[in-house]
Amino acid sequence: MEDRIISSQMLTEDQTVEFSLRPRSLAEYIGQSKVKENLKVYIEAAKMRNEALDHVLLYGPPGLGKTTLSNIIANEMGVNIRTTSGPAIERPGDLAAILTNLQEGDVLFIDEIHRLHRTVEEVLYPAMEDYALDIIIGKGPSARSVRIDLPKFTLVGATTRAGLLSSPLRDRFGVMARLEYYNEEELTQIIIRAAELLEVKIVGEAAKEIALRSRGTPRVANRLLKRVRDFAQVMADGVITEDVAKQSLEQIQVDRLGLDHIDHKLLATIIDNYQGGPVGLDTLAASIGEESNTIEDVYEPYLMQKGFLQRTPRGRMVTNLAYQHLGRSIPNESST
Ligand SMILES: Nc1ncnc2c1ncn2[C@@H]1O[C@H](COP(=O)(O)OP(=O)(O)OP(=O)(O)O)[C@@H](O)[C@H]1O
Ligand SMILES: [Mg+2]
Repeated sequence: MEDRIISSQMLTEDQTVEFSLRPRSLAEYIGQSKVKENLKVYIEAAKMRNEALDHVLLYGPPGLGKTTLSNIIANEMGVNIRTTSGPAIERPGDLAAILTNLQEGDVLFIDEIHRLHRTVEEVLYPAMEDYALDIIIGKGPSARSVRIDLPKFTLVGATTRAGLLSSPLRDRFGVMARLEYYNEEELTQIIIRAAELLEVKIVGEAAKEIALRSRGTPRVANRLLKRVRDFAQVMADGVITEDVAKQSLEQIQVDRLGLDHIDHKLLATIIDNYQGGPVGLDTLAASIGEESNTIEDVYEPYLMQKGFLQRTPRGRMVTNLAYQHLGRSIPNESST
């Protein structure tokens, strides 16, 4: 898969910049007001009681700020954060080592927590519930289980696929926070803030123009901003005016709703080759030369969210909106 500028997945080019743009406190974290307000209360209460914060599960699509928020939680609690991810913890012993090295109140952040191995997950249950580790010593009939106390810690789990979490694991989180796509105002603010940190001048209208095309996702917003900044440097003494923003976004082929050339190709293929659908996923994948999985996980969610595409039992279908957006005339027969 090629790196798409509008991909919500982290690309290598994002890494350094993301770190510097990451908000460090709840006050700096834009949007997600429900989640933020609740967390604020829980954090304050835990601090007043001098206890570890309850375990928190953050879920939602890539690039919406789960990792950012987990760092903010540790920051606001005034504790250390230890970061790992589901697939990185290979054996129960690996998790035991991490847990026993935590200090009272620390945050353990497990990214992609839905990818934890079953055997590892089982170690987590008593750790989350009783702050304890059950270790089997010896083998066969003489084996016995020893319980080790752990420091009271906070597990923050992040996942893009909450549905894949086993229910015993899900039930052990006291706080579940679902991150939502950001609206245009919020993204505009995020872009203006990022521009300040990157020390680039941007006018409000330009920030809005970028916000519109960011697919509701701060990561995409920041990436588009960086790209537009390059154009501004060459075209307009470094200032991002509305014109510069529009022209450069045109240039990198991201349209006013954040669709790129691959989105266009996918929709146009269904319209031109399959009369608007339905067309099976594998057939569609072959037609546009992409993997079925990639289409399903990466391209389709946003197209469906915007109402351009439908998944039906017989295959994928475009909607009238898609015809309109591509500037095609809608076929008469009422097949949609
Ligand atoms: N609320 C916010 N305010 C300002 N910037 C934000 C906000 N949320 C996220 N960002 C920016 O977006 C970038 C991506 O966020 P982050 O890495 O936390 O996403 P994520 O949900 O962990 O994604 P993934 O699922 O891929 O791990 C951050 O580097 C940060 O600069
Ligand atoms: Mg993350």
